[in-house]
Amino acid sequence: MKEKIDRNNIPQHIAVIMDGNGRWAQKKGAMRIFGHRNAISAVRDAIEGSAELGVKYITLYAFSTENWSRPQDEVNALMEILVQAIVDEVPTMMKNNIRLATIGDISSLPEGCQSHLQWGKEETKNNTGLTVVLALSYSGRWEIASAVSEIVKKIVAGDIKQDEIDQQMIAEHLNTAGIPDPELLIRTSGEQRISNFMLWQLAYTELYFTEVLWPDFRKNDLHEAILAYQQRERRFGKTGAQIKSQS
Ligand code: IPE
Ligand code: IPE
Ligand code: MG
Repeated sequence: MKEKIDRNNIPQHIAVIMDGNGRWAQKKGAMRIFGHRNAISAVRDAIEGSAELGVKYITLYAFSTENWSRPQDEVNALMEILVQAIVDEVPTMMKNNIRLATIGDISSLPEGCQSHLQWGKEETKNNTGLTVVLALSYSGRWEIASAVSEIVKKIVAGDIKQDEIDQQMIAEHLNTAGIPDPELLIRTSGEQRISNFMLWQLAYTELYFTEVLWPDFRKNDLHEAILAYQQRERRFGKTGAQIKSQS
């Protein structure tokens, strides 16, 4: 599979909705939390596989704004798994020149998560290979609302004028400022929806859905998604003929 991938057409940024942990566990007659624990090996494969192909950014949807309304035990377990994963994975990230970043309302996370994330980001900040962006307490609508609020604050303070607002300014006030929009979105577990993920950034992203449940996701599945992406014709509103004459 990997040999079939065109190395000159690798997405710079891959976004992933890591879904299906609960169903994976339930199929095994286990608690949902067991599925979350087994998600880590899939995360590792997605990161390693991306780094090997020269992907620059991978954004992993790990916890949405809406996920706060899950049972408290499950939320607590997810936060503990997150802390453990940071402790376990940062040394590997250092070895592989991988940088850790986050998007989302990090201040809403428990203190222990915040300090571990802070540590992981600080440790890896000078790494120049793949950037792993964890979306935590993140949602696209929350992010856009925050950006609007920031911009209005600047207008009120007289730092910018209303007629200076354009798409670029909005993009620069999102959590993803400076990061290119994803070319490819992968969602596992068969659900075909966006679930409030990167609403602004996904405007022209190629969407790829797979039945694989997240804990089963391996490099091979990543390669399959990239191959599917490479079969797509990205037209950005133009005609197919226009696109062909460009290339
Ligand atoms: C994704 O798996 C992980 C998070 C949303 C945190 P789910 O926990 O949503 O698994 P399903 O969709 O219930 O199977
Ligand atoms: C999306 O999965 C959020 C994450 C993967 C973190 P959900 O399982 O929360 O999405 P819905 O509720 O099925 O749309
Ligand atoms: Mg789910």
